[in-house]
Amino acid sequence: MDFHVLTLFPDMVRQGLNTSIIGRAIKDGHITLNTVNIRDFSINKHNRVDDYPYGGGAGMVIQAEPVYRAWESVAKNSKAIKQGKKPRCIYLTPQGKVFHQTMVEEFAQEEELIFLCGHYEGIDERVLEEVVTDYVSIGDYVLTGGELASMVMIDAISRFVPGVLNNEESAQFESMQDNLLEYPHYTRPESWHEKEVPKVLLTGDHNKIEAWRWEQSLIRTKERRPDLLEKNKSLKVAYFSPTGGTKKAAEM
Ligand code: ADE
Repeated sequence: MDFHVLTLFPDMVRQGLNTSIIGRAIKDGHITLNTVNIRDFSINKHNRVDDYPYGGGAGMVIQAEPVYRAWESVAKNSKAIKQGKKPRCIYLTPQGKVFHQTMVEEFAQEEELIFLCGHYEGIDERVLEEVVTDYVSIGDYVLTGGELASMVMIDAISRFVPGVLNNEESAQFESMQDNLLEYPHYTRPESWHEKEVPKVLLTGDHNKIEAWRWEQSLIRTKERRPDLLEKNKSLKVAYFSPTGGTKKAAEM
């Protein structure tokens, strides 16, 4: 998967994604991360890319042309353009569709994604109309720019790219695929602050442990994210225990 990020702050994106699992995935070649500085495409002798908003008001607006040229520098080499299609270009904005796991899996099917990060008051609407294919928000709050949001998306999407997670890491997210929260985890020591590790985890009985974890996932989801269960109720989702039981979301 090839990620391109059009931004005024490329260092922020590169540094943010260059560690841990995503840093390893870049090093191993499972994903590529190309940051493009919109300022490099300024059409102004002082290297400015923003200007006052028509109609007045506070803040500055990023001009259409530098954004268009930055996009073009990536789009002209994209596989999509060669096939006569528009490359998938995501504009990060609180006005977009709210990002969730189903979207993660959908974006992960693409070979290439372009992220466009705004700053200040935003980007001239006319270039958005020409290049953007998807408007995405990472939540109902306002960030200072789209960079952190693009990093959140790249992190979540990369987990679905083959080779990015090792076996142990990929086993971890199976429960989220059922729209359930994960069960609680424990490690040594057995007793800490007079709190004991649940006895079932010390039995070595794999079936019992799986059943307990599944039960805990359901309880935790009901307590902390009842909205997930509500969604699944209307979808008539049933939860299948790894050891054979079944529970319908509607009965929880
Ligand atoms: N830019 C500013 N706020 C944002 C948000 N919540 N999601 C995506 N991009 C943003």
